[in-house]
Amino acid sequence: MKMELVNLNKSFQDVSAVKNLNLKVNDGELVAFLGPSGCGKTTTLLTIAGIYKPTSGDIFFDGERVNSLQPKERDIGMVFQSYALYPHMNAYQNIVFSLVLKKRPKEEMQREAKRVSDMLGIGHLLDRKASQLSGGQQQRVALARALIKQPKLLLFDEPLSNLDARLRMSMREEIRRLQTNLGITSVYVTHDQVEAMTMADRVAVMHNGDLLAYVTPEELHERPRTLFIGQFIGSPSMNILDAQLKSIDGSLHIKLTDGTTLPIPGERTPKSCKDGDMVKFGIRPEDVKLDSNGSVRGKVTFIESLGREHLIVSNIGEQRMQLLTEPGNKISLDSNINISVDMRKAQFFDAETGLTLLWE
Ligand SMILES: Nc1ncnc2c1ncn2[C@@H]1O[C@H](COP(=O)(O)OP(=O)(O)O)[C@@H](O)[C@H]1O
Ligand SMILES: [Mg+2]
Repeated sequence: MKMELVNLNKSFQDVSAVKNLNLKVNDGELVAFLGPSGCGKTTTLLTIAGIYKPTSGDIFFDGERVNSLQPKERDIGMVFQSYALYPHMNAYQNIVFSLVLKKRPKEEMQREAKRVSDMLGIGHLLDRKASQLSGGQQQRVALARALIKQPKLLLFDEPLSNLDARLRMSMREEIRRLQTNLGITSVYVTHDQVEAMTMADRVAVMHNGDLLAYVTPEELHERPRTLFIGQFIGSPSMNILDAQLKSIDGSLHIKLTDGTTLPIPGERTPKSCKDGDMVKFGIRPEDVKLDSNGSVRGKVTFIESLGREHLIVSNIGEQRMQLLTEPGNKISLDSNINISVDMRKAQFFDAETGLTLLWE
């Protein structure tokens, strides 16, 4: 099913939670709504579900306006962070609950419960009370309960946030695999950029009720349109340094605040800029290396082990630069280091507006 939001607004008294949202989700696509807490993700999701009425604007399912349909008339399945199971009922009773309400025959309930619980590997847990299941098992039951309705649209609201890191990773894969196999159009709300980037076909980045970007994960990472997106996507986050554009011997360079200059490759020339302009220069930690021949000189202020690699925080003059290294490197605090920067990966943003100076 295709889903479309047109000029969607949702306000609570004086809070504008969703502002003029326009967005299309293709049939079978998984779209992640990504943004910090309070940016309007849940409000958007509940409006799509019909639990909230839009203040203005329209919602279309396969071209049909559904604004006046009740949640139960919308053919949706929902999965929440809190699981929202009935704790005194067993897993089976939770899973078939919607079929009970529809007074479906018992054989159908048993058949369908078997189908979805086999998909989720919880066939052996059906007699267990919900309150006696682990977090991961409860979330599988909640997912089975959503899938048994054979919904045309699946809505997820931070479904993995209560699970531990390892389980979160495996559930990420499992949900994505199920969603792809079943081909169910899905909207997946999360504040976790790794989740959004690894699971989604497209990511809608929200900030203060506004849609900042709606592109593929790769596009979001490689061609961020704003400084906010550049820094929000990727971990550890992109280094942002103040820099001035300088023409040296006829070719454009950036000059950092400590006086270091670095040449800008032709394909990364910031648009509508001139010699002397101040810009925000962005470079990801993975595109900066310790290198005795590197022309940038820094001083190590912090070292953090990330397991396979070390994160080194250094000062370039009074500005901060983070880089990743192999743990074998014997770098000590307060030592001076030389750094090389892969300028083919440079990003440039307008110093005032934060808008990209590279991408259309
Ligand atoms: N029922 C409500 N009544 C009043 N304000 C609300 C309500 N629900 C959400 N809000 C406000 O709307 C904004 C967006 O909230 P929400 O959609 O829950 O954000 P998110 O899910 O991205 O964390 C926040 O400022 C929040 O305080
Ligand atoms: Mg929320």
